[in-house]
Amino acid sequence: MNPETCVYAGSFDPITSGHLDIIRRGAAIFPKLIVAVLRNPSKKGCFTMEERLSMLQRSCADLPNVSFDSFDGLLVDYMRKVDAGVILRGLRAVSDFESEFQMAQLNRQLNPQVETFFLMTSPEHAYLSSSAVREIAMFGGDISCFVPSPIVEEVTQKFRK
Ligand code: PNS
Repeated sequence: MNPETCVYAGSFDPITSGHLDIIRRGAAIFPKLIVAVLRNPSKKGCFTMEERLSMLQRSCADLPNVSFDSFDGLLVDYMRKVDAGVILRGLRAVSDFESEFQMAQLNRQLNPQVETFFLMTSPEHAYLSSSAVREIAMFGGDISCFVPSPIVEEVTQKFRK
């Protein structure tokens, strides 16, 4: 497993400014960063896989060492498939800690060669989530400081329909 390749996995429904902050900072540390979107058959989501990947690509267009993919099944299996040694996660408020701790422990038990690497979210994004963005957009609120600028219009339009 290559420790120079990290995977930032998630639903990204849609990518938020908090996700972008973690991607930027992760890409400055690791030579190769893969953003992997979970294909979750039990959770339909608001945006399609194609829309999510397109929004990620447009938001990270200036980051040459970042690539995009989708996966299903266990994250550790995907890590093996792409030969990546590090899972990148962002920690927001203290409330994230318990579930993140559990996930990191389980993943390490499933494959001890995979490490989880945490970055503390920048304070301005500490309470931001994709579900909060969806709710604000649904009720006509201004989401421009919560999602990357290249996707503000697409997310706003999605909920205007
Ligand atoms: O956007 P999220 O909800 O923070 O992403 C969570 C994700 C996709 C990283 C996590 O649910 C995941 O890794 N799912 C794949 C299934 C898996 O590997 N489960 C075992 C670890 S708990």
